[in-house]
Amino acid sequence: MILSSDTVSQQSLPKHIAIIMDGNGRWAQQRGKPRVFGHKKGVDAVRRAVQFCSRLEISSLTLFAFSSENWRRPEDEVSTLMELFLLVLTKEVKKLHKNNVKLQIIGDLSRFSAKLQQRVVEAQALTKDNQGLCLNIAANYGGRWDIMQAAKKLAADVEQGNLQSSDITEDMLSANISMAEQAPLDLLIRTGGDLRISNFLLWQAAYAELYFTETLWPDFDDEAFANAIACYVSRERRFGCTGEQIKQLLSQVK
Ligand code: IPE
Ligand code: IPE
Ligand code: MG
Repeated sequence: MILSSDTVSQQSLPKHIAIIMDGNGRWAQQRGKPRVFGHKKGVDAVRRAVQFCSRLEISSLTLFAFSSENWRRPEDEVSTLMELFLLVLTKEVKKLHKNNVKLQIIGDLSRFSAKLQQRVVEAQALTKDNQGLCLNIAANYGGRWDIMQAAKKLAADVEQGNLQSSDITEDMLSANISMAEQAPLDLLIRTGGDLRISNFLLWQAAYAELYFTETLWPDFDDEAFANAIACYVSRERRFGCTGEQIKQLLSQVK
């Protein structure tokens, strides 16, 4: 069954989308360039994805920028990724703010340089009252770390005598997991062809639709994103809708 474009409504779109942005290194290698070239191209794809979600009035977009395991990469690659992150936090934040985006960094920031941590605090403070897209950047993030830090908070409550361990509920843990105040995760996308979660949003992904694509992150454009959303809408409503229709919706809201 083919949907007509006017039946694809805002309500059927995912409210919270997360992306494992994978494939930058391979993208560069395919072009005979160093891996870091792919990471730089990946920043363009990030900009595109943020604009795409803003235009479609998606509530939250969560991007996996650096995992807790990525420290194991060669030193020069790690430092390039840090520099890129710093650059984006310095240069792009004003534009995000102008576009009403609320920026939040999730992950264990304690391992980052003081300068980077300072930028994070400033960027979050500047955009905290914005009502548009919630953009969450996962940096030194791990799904197991997230569950552990939530458990630690509850353990502290128990230690202080404010809570009995036998009274702990799933809802209490949920309330302490990253992004608890945002819409639940609806759609988790991974680019780059691998079929795994790589320790991303383990708790939050419990009921998310999973979408895997061979497309490498720097090539993930509006068309690829529209196809991912069309696939989500089709699965939810159990009948077909095309990427073309999502793009039509996009042109209506422009
Ligand atoms: C993902 O691309 C970006 C980060 C992990 C920062 P990769 O660097 O993992 O690229 P591939 O998977 O090696 O192609
Ligand atoms: C996942 O990609 C992490 C990010 C996209 C930041 P990786 O390339 O690090 O994942 P693995 O190592 O292939 O599982
Ligand atoms: Mg990879």
